[in-house]
Amino acid sequence: MKILIVGSGGREFAIARRISQDSGVERIYFAPGNGATGQIGENIDIKDFDELANFAKKNSIDLTIVGPEAPLTDGIVDVFKSKNLRIFGPDKNAAKLEGSKVFMKDFLHRNKIKTAKYLNSSDFNEISKFIETLETPIVVKADGLCAGKGVIIAKTKDEAKKAAIEMLSGKSFGEAGKKVVIEEFLDGFELSFFAICDGKNFVSLPVAQDHKKLNDGDEGPNTGGMGAYAPSPLANKDLIKKIENEIVRPTVNGMANEGNSFCGVLFVGLMIVKNEPYVLEYNVRFGDPECEVLMPLIDGNLAEILKNASDGKLEKFKLKDEFAVGVVMASKNYPYSKSEPEGIKVDKIPANTHICYAGVSKNGENLQASGGRVLVNVGVAKTIKEARDLAYKLCDNVHFKGAKFRKDIAYQALKNA
Ligand code: AMP
Ligand code: GLY
Repeated sequence: MKILIVGSGGREFAIARRISQDSGVERIYFAPGNGATGQIGENIDIKDFDELANFAKKNSIDLTIVGPEAPLTDGIVDVFKSKNLRIFGPDKNAAKLEGSKVFMKDFLHRNKIKTAKYLNSSDFNEISKFIETLETPIVVKADGLCAGKGVIIAKTKDEAKKAAIEMLSGKSFGEAGKKVVIEEFLDGFELSFFAICDGKNFVSLPVAQDHKKLNDGDEGPNTGGMGAYAPSPLANKDLIKKIENEIVRPTVNGMANEGNSFCGVLFVGLMIVKNEPYVLEYNVRFGDPECEVLMPLIDGNLAEILKNASDGKLEKFKLKDEFAVGVVMASKNYPYSKSEPEGIKVDKIPANTHICYAGVSKNGENLQASGGRVLVNVGVAKTIKEARDLAYKLCDNVHFKGAKFRKDIAYQALKNA
């Protein structure tokens, strides 16, 4: 099987690394890939979807896997499908679950799926009235894609109104903020739930937990995610059943019934309040860094699993009885501004650990950190604690100037251990 992976992050590196272990996978291409993906396959520099589809046709690609949300919401799947090419991911209409918060909230309401009380609007008077009915803090969100930065948690009603005015004026998030969602604040803990879907059926993956804040103890600004682990003991069997029956099943059915069958990775961002799961958001792809810890936990031939899912013929598959912990190493100025490129030195890769490379480029034969989230150090073991210790052992062996990482990944799982 020849596979094309669209994207350039640690998530795409992790998918490729995992799939390269499957029998029958002959060759992997990345569009565009990063400085390290060349270790697993071949990087190609094509951005235009039509050109990329032509490349897939010419090179007899059997399966294209799309990592990030932007190409999905921009319709890459529609272009590939119109040319009879197999691609794993939702089409443009189905990708609206992530691309538009207004669509998402209305979908949840129509399908009676639990979520925070909300109002969608572009009318400030209406927004202002709704804010007055809520208790503080109040959540204000821009409608469109803002790379995870379009959410403001306002401590006072005035602050919420100010945030809404700034979004509506286009000042804070441009077009993405011309419509806003105001929400009640949900107080609980967050989980990331992933399911592989084929339009009708789904198979759940281990429940993961991300760490969105930059610093230990969940302090500091929001980031794309500073580390993850799975499976999380915070989700017991009953909670998982509830999530599957009350959220994932109605989502897959609702999308199919509305003519937007969902094929791809459904990623539900959940807030668990008093043992009840509420949907915070949907994403239509793997999370990053969640993907890096999920990949080593999937048993069987993942390339075949995703190929069958793309054909609407998803079959059940097994998960390994192990835990994975991933610790993100980011560059000096992340998430505020760009950082100078810095050479990466790896002393040793301990057994049962590996690196998923993300923000890296090549400097001759050497890898350099080129900014943002640079790499994810992953440990896999029979217990979370061992997996966490392994991931941090790897952190001790990976060096670049200005590297920063959280020291407390998986702390919620280990609190009572
Ligand atoms: P979103 O992009 O909607 O997932 O929001 C980003 C982050 O904001 C989430 O991961 C939560 O930490 C937080 N958040 C969003 N909505 C709410 C809410 N209604 N209550 C509490 N926290 C929220
Ligand atoms: N780690 C969260 C995300 O990928 O959206």
